[in-house]
Amino acid sequence: VINEENYSYELIKEIADYFLERTSIRPVIGIICGSGLNSLADHITDIQAFDYKDIPNFPVSTVEGHVGRMIFGYLEGMPVVAMQGRFHYYEGYPLAKCSMPVRVLKLVGIKYLFATNAAGGLNPKYKVGDIMIVRDHINIMGFAGNSPLQGPNDPRFGPRFPPMTNAYDRHLVRKARKVVREMGIENDVHEGVYTCLGGPNYETVAELKMLRIMGVDAVGMSTVHEVITARHCDLTVFAFSLITNKCATDYDSSEEDANHEEVVMVGKSRQSICGELMCRMIRDLAQD
Ligand code: HPA
Repeated sequence: VINEENYSYELIKEIADYFLERTSIRPVIGIICGSGLNSLADHITDIQAFDYKDIPNFPVSTVEGHVGRMIFGYLEGMPVVAMQGRFHYYEGYPLAKCSMPVRVLKLVGIKYLFATNAAGGLNPKYKVGDIMIVRDHINIMGFAGNSPLQGPNDPRFGPRFPPMTNAYDRHLVRKARKVVREMGIENDVHEGVYTCLGGPNYETVAELKMLRIMGVDAVGMSTVHEVITARHCDLTVFAFSLITNKCATDYDSSEEDANHEEVVMVGKSRQSICGELMCRMIRDLAQD
């Protein structure tokens, strides 16, 4: 399958130039705010914001809880750019379009991608409100033959067959471990495996059981294709999930059905801890 909507290098460069012509900020880190986590961008100072609807050739996000703005500024002294609102497969966009903004950020000049998301907790040790540092992912949509990298490869972005063995940078995971210790939140933070399903429906009990057997700790509807695109163009990736609900893996489970309102609500209630983790990571990175 060749992606119908071909975001060529030139077109993506045009979008990147749109920003470069309008701001003098040259971000080193790109941040993607997950559902309910838009406030991660509130820590950014000296902001210059661009609504997605004003950016030429940029999609608009259609999900409640996702605003749709690209915010340039400074976090802990580091120049950053944050996406408030991302694009999901279930909105009807092909995966390549969902992760196209990552390439825009690459051409804007970022070296690091910090992706966040809301996810259902499959690991029985996880509690609602916990954070999972993403150690690795399982690209289930890839098993089914869907990838953001399908179609002709443009070597200006990266190689035809990019490796994924260090998808989530181990130095950044180690840094996160240190930051979590400093914050004293070890009991609420885990390291685990994330998977992305197409959605928009949540999972059946049988599906969740299968995912657990496969070694999945948290399940969501984003991030994986963004990380694949980021690694293809050699960005260094850090990601964490906010566990917004516990997934039921048996039929008698007392867990409530997953629902979007709960996801957004837990995001709001845990925004300060997620923000602090993000800020401390960036402060630490700035000192390297
Ligand atoms: N499943 C999939 N995606 C999600 C969930 C879930 O339980 N919670 C938040 N995003």
